[in-house]
Amino acid sequence: MHVLGIETSCDETAAAVLDDRRKTLSSVVLTQDAIHAPYGGVVPELASRQHLATIGRVVGEALRRAEIPLECIDAYAATQGPGLVGSLLVGLSFAKALAYYFEKPLAGVDHVEAHIEAAFLENPNLPFPAVALVVSGGHTALFFLKKRLHYRLLGRTRDDAAGEALDKIAKFLGLGYPGGPVIEKWAATGDAERFVFALPRMKDTSLDFSFSGLKTAALRLIGETDMSDSHPRLADFLASFEEAVVRALVTNLGRAAKRFNPASFILCGGVARNKRLRRGFEELARSSGVAAFIPSPALCTDNAAMVAALGLEKLKTAKKASWPLDLDAYPRFNATRE
Ligand code: KG4
Ligand code: ZN
Repeated sequence: MHVLGIETSCDETAAAVLDDRRKTLSSVVLTQDAIHAPYGGVVPELASRQHLATIGRVVGEALRRAEIPLECIDAYAATQGPGLVGSLLVGLSFAKALAYYFEKPLAGVDHVEAHIEAAFLENPNLPFPAVALVVSGGHTALFFLKKRLHYRLLGRTRDDAAGEALDKIAKFLGLGYPGGPVIEKWAATGDAERFVFALPRMKDTSLDFSFSGLKTAALRLIGETDMSDSHPRLADFLASFEEAVVRALVTNLGRAAKRFNPASFILCGGVARNKRLRRGFEELARSSGVAAFIPSPALCTDNAAMVAALGLEKLKTAKKASWPLDLDAYPRFNATRE
């Protein structure tokens, strides 16, 4: 059995083919970074137009690399949401058309859950219960997983996502897009203790995150110090900011661990590529005696292998296979707290 996964929730057009043993036969990701870079962020209208222009080629390339003809695809999976609706509709409609024509099942996949699935793709025997920290440009959330496909939302950002905060600071300083990797490069040579950022504190006992305060503090410091790309302390400033974002994430994960006593920690989403975050996450796991799992970098940022993998898992447990043509895209984070 072969499943074709399609991902177009934001600014990556991606397709992947997996076999029923979850082996990735191909994974193609076409990024639109160069198109959005002049604007310092994703322009939704440009993103959907670009998906439309490239989806056929990206899917074709995934099939060619997997050496599987389209007629031999047994099931389809596509990201349904959350994301930019104009972008989501391109991938979802493409998958629906193929599923309808070939009369094969189609699974609609949640993008945030797919990021978590990336960890299972490389670690099928990951021990439960697990606490997953999803950190991307659009989402920052904590989940408790009692078992496969059981996602209980523990906390989420009340304002900006962590990646969004990094992207906005980089944009303000004119450093380029996406901001996370650029900041990481600058921060590598900086002194993270040079600038002090107060960490956000929730007034209640919730495991929610907040990054708008950190962002505002950073913008104030930029103004006060006249920070720019030619400032001698830019590397220190960015290292300190990156460190504050990492501390905010890891501190909350530590609080969740105390309450939920997991056997595993999962770190995923685009920002999970960040080395300082990976280090902080692994240190917390070591000191808490919890096994740590982070997908390899290519599986952290948006890709379709994670979508195909989750689609396969959902279809395996589905009562009856279907090609639901009424499957609709949804823009917002769907998870609710139990
Ligand atoms: O998961 P993703 O590809 O898309 C969303 O679902 O949002 O994540 C993109 C985010 C961007 O905010 C980008 O700046 C961030 O991931 N990112 C990083 C790194 N690589 C990507 N942030 C920090 N360090 C990195 N190395
Ligand atoms: Zn993502």
